[in-house]
Amino acid sequence: MKQAIINTVKENEWQKSLDIIQTAGNIIRNGGTVIFPTETVYGLGANALDPRAAQRIYKAKGRPTDNPLIVHISDEAMLEDIASDISDEARLLIKAYWPGPLTLIFYKKDIVPSATTGGLETVAVRMPSNKIAQKLIEEAGVPVAAPSANISGRPSITSGKYAVEEMASRVDMIILSENSQIGIESTVVDMTTHLPIVLRPGKISQSQILRTIAKDERDYAAKMAELEELIHSRSSNQAMPRSPGMKYRHYSPNAELILMSRDKLISLTKDFLQETAKGYIIEEKQKKEWQKLLGEPIDISPSRVKVLTTDDALVHYKGLGVSLGQNGEEIGKNLFKTLRDLDEQGVLLIFCEDFEELEQSEFLTAVMNRIRKAADNVE
Ligand code: TXA
Ligand code: MG
Repeated sequence: MKQAIINTVKENEWQKSLDIIQTAGNIIRNGGTVIFPTETVYGLGANALDPRAAQRIYKAKGRPTDNPLIVHISDEAMLEDIASDISDEARLLIKAYWPGPLTLIFYKKDIVPSATTGGLETVAVRMPSNKIAQKLIEEAGVPVAAPSANISGRPSITSGKYAVEEMASRVDMIILSENSQIGIESTVVDMTTHLPIVLRPGKISQSQILRTIAKDERDYAAKMAELEELIHSRSSNQAMPRSPGMKYRHYSPNAELILMSRDKLISLTKDFLQETAKGYIIEEKQKKEWQKLLGEPIDISPSRVKVLTTDDALVHYKGLGVSLGQNGEEIGKNLFKTLRDLDEQGVLLIFCEDFEELEQSEFLTAVMNRIRKAADNVE
């Protein structure tokens, strides 16, 4: 089996590793695949203008070919090459949020092959702020198509360690770096509709977007009202999802993942755990229920059950608790890595608190969107 070239580059010392980034850029220009860090999650990149390179991405990820790729650019001249009908509103968003965790969808130019856009007439474009990503695109000299670097359906990769474990035999090169700062993928916004609509929530929120393009307070209120109306009419029409990726199963660890309110979880853990001199054992009745849930009669011991919670609530769960942090930012940053860590530890059953009850923030809502998609008890 082929094995990727693997190198480590620290983001704030990227100049010292220019040769590594140049090698990666050459690989991409010549049709190969490179995993690289971005501020959101690690990406699996290839030349966006080469249909065969795009196909290599789909193959490496095992991704359905109707799910389009995000094209990463390093300067605005690249945007002009690949996208058309760039509105004034789009220019405002670009000025405010690029480089950064915002992906904008435009009508594509002919130079972008349909292999990259999953057959769509539109193209998703993002300018990442991570210095290694920027320099890599510059060195490649071509726009870089890059989905998240995980195997399709698995949690996104936010630490170099999991890029190597999962992908080393599937790509030509991996650039290892620090853990991803944001930890969930970019906000995806459709710029081809009258009102810019968030198709995938992320760090930059829908209200930030409308605020940025609004002329004044009144215009902002009108745009928010229009959005409400639109969302309402769409859900009642059961419209097709505009972002093809949204219909697929996502972010799933190997363990069963169950989402619940904190109150329910605290009483549930009290019920199923029996304190002993050595720690805890699980009630027999509970074991039977879980085995039904997991399908097979599997050895369930307390070490194979975990509860995802916050720092201040760890006390409620004794040894079962694993904290994702204390606020939305931290939960977002730690989520995907923790799901993968628990898989590696052989955990079979992960309960996760519904964090939306803890903090009112649009970012936490975006993080909960990922958790709901990953959960086995949410439709
Ligand atoms: O943060 C990110 O966006 C990461 C990093 C690597 O940049 N990339 C990423 O790519 O998350 P991916 O392929 O895992 O997710 C792309 C999402 C999918 O939901 C896809 O359906 C949607 O963007 N998308 C891409 N092109 C689109 C288009 N032309 N129209 C509608 N949705 C599109
Ligand atoms: Mg993805």
